[in-house]
Amino acid sequence: MNMEFIPALRGSFNLNDYENAVEHFDWSEVEAKFSWFKTGKINIVHEAIDRHALSTKKDKVALYYKDEYRKEQFTFKEMMEMTNKAGNMFKKFNVLKGDRVFIYTPRSPEMYFCLLGAIKVGAIVGPLFEAFMDAAVYDRLNDSEAKILVTTPELVSRVPLEKLPKLEKIVLVGDEIEETDQIVSFNKHFEEASDELEIEWMDREDGMLLHYTSGSTGKPKGVLHVHNAMIQQYQTAQWVLDLNEDDIYWCTADPGWVTGTVYGVFGPWLNGVTNVVRGGRFNPNDWYQTIEDYSVTVWYSAPTAFRMLMGIGEELTQKFNLKSLRHILSVGEPLNPEVVRWGLRVFNLRIHDTWWMTETGAMMVCNYPCLNIKPGSMGKPIPGIEAAIIDDNGNVLPPNRMGNLALKMGWPSMMRSIWNNPNKYKEYFTHNGWYISGDSAYMDEDGYFWFQGRIDDVINTSGERVGPFEVESKLVEHPAIAEAGVIGIPDPVQGMRIKAFISLREGYTPTSDLEEEIRLFVKEELSAHAVPKKIEFKEKLPKTRSGKIMRRVLKAWELDLPTGDLSTMED
Ligand code: WT7
Repeated sequence: MNMEFIPALRGSFNLNDYENAVEHFDWSEVEAKFSWFKTGKINIVHEAIDRHALSTKKDKVALYYKDEYRKEQFTFKEMMEMTNKAGNMFKKFNVLKGDRVFIYTPRSPEMYFCLLGAIKVGAIVGPLFEAFMDAAVYDRLNDSEAKILVTTPELVSRVPLEKLPKLEKIVLVGDEIEETDQIVSFNKHFEEASDELEIEWMDREDGMLLHYTSGSTGKPKGVLHVHNAMIQQYQTAQWVLDLNEDDIYWCTADPGWVTGTVYGVFGPWLNGVTNVVRGGRFNPNDWYQTIEDYSVTVWYSAPTAFRMLMGIGEELTQKFNLKSLRHILSVGEPLNPEVVRWGLRVFNLRIHDTWWMTETGAMMVCNYPCLNIKPGSMGKPIPGIEAAIIDDNGNVLPPNRMGNLALKMGWPSMMRSIWNNPNKYKEYFTHNGWYISGDSAYMDEDGYFWFQGRIDDVINTSGERVGPFEVESKLVEHPAIAEAGVIGIPDPVQGMRIKAFISLREGYTPTSDLEEEIRLFVKEELSAHAVPKKIEFKEKLPKTRSGKIMRRVLKAWELDLPTGDLSTMED
């Protein structure tokens, strides 16, 4: 048993408040803070932007944006005007309530204007990570029947427009766009659009955000979130991010992932807090420079990034003034105790692990300022959330027993459907009233939760969720490949690395050129993070009699573990 702990801080939400809230808290207390509680009509962007723009906060900086080429800032009032312009532009393109608007651009202020502007006019926004390649983009636009795509001249070449009949307009963000009926210039229409907008008032259960994420089988699934999610997004930003009026907050995630929307957009802005966005790729110097330049106080990032910073060494931190930092948090994969200790050494701060998923729409199990941290543990459920470890029959297990990490249904930010796939949605609820996360964990006798792994075969590489099936399906499209099985293997920096076992078709021989070609194929068709770092060629892959590749056996081979029951394996 791990006895190490790091004592609590005095956050604005103290232990008394916390313990009280765990007993008595009810989400309706949060609803009552917003005007839609009375009118019944809601728009999350009104609460995140316009509400502040129409208050004494109007001239407060909402967004600090910086990348290699640009450095800009926008007040809440300016954000209201910019998002109004984007909203009017979408209206002109005939975007109606419930239509899907996809945004596939690198980070830029325009990305945030479009994301918020589209939700303002009632659309459901689908953010796509810029590293996605043709097939990944196609699957998502096709499944969601997107009507509008905002992208750039560079990225649009990856979009198979001819195969997407539902796509009405492609809005290109860039200079000198040659317009056609379908392709239109963002600059031109944004410029022309009015900065006053009649916002679309929605029902709390109307959709606003569609994030595609991977499971162990099938194509990526579209997780739908509704305006009502704001209740929990707003509240967790106070309890866990500990955001206060004067904070300068930086979330490093791209809006292509749920952290980048929920806590890169909504969490801070629902609370009227100044938000820093840094575009471009990870770079240790620039990251520390960003903290120094903006005097960042609260920083939300991921274990992979912390491990990379840790790997570079502690000298680099001494070249920057990082004294403004007062609160650091992490999400996406297990946060190693070693990283927590590094955080204490170099920042003199605790790194607070938080656990949640695309599907949960907001934080669920967390380390708060007022709790002692046990390094390696994800913390405790937030007030209003009941988490438990259950066995495969739905029985709640006692402390220190490993099982399914499950959540009692009924929290505000829960996904409301899997797009186009009600059966997939049902698969999460096989046990009465419990949502099954797919993670295994145990709870200790003090109520702290400890992550143990994924129960399914989903691979978490550098905090990005990769479905083995998706990679396998892509691999077998390659002419040389007969069969493929994909697993995750432990890696000290990335958490997990992707390994592919491949059997070749007649007439092909395994060579390192072929290996390279296969990697490039996945990279160009799916995305860089889905590329198998390791490839092993096999005569035959272990399969069940029904023809399913047995990843469990591949894992056992790889890690030298017992293969377990092989009764369903073909000869
Ligand atoms: C899966 C969800 C929600 C933000 C990012 C990930 C893993 C998430 C932790 C953590 C250990 C974690 C789980 C989870 N995960 N946070 N603190 N410790 N594992 O969202 O892409 O939907 O992935 O990420 O396995 O099920 P996601």
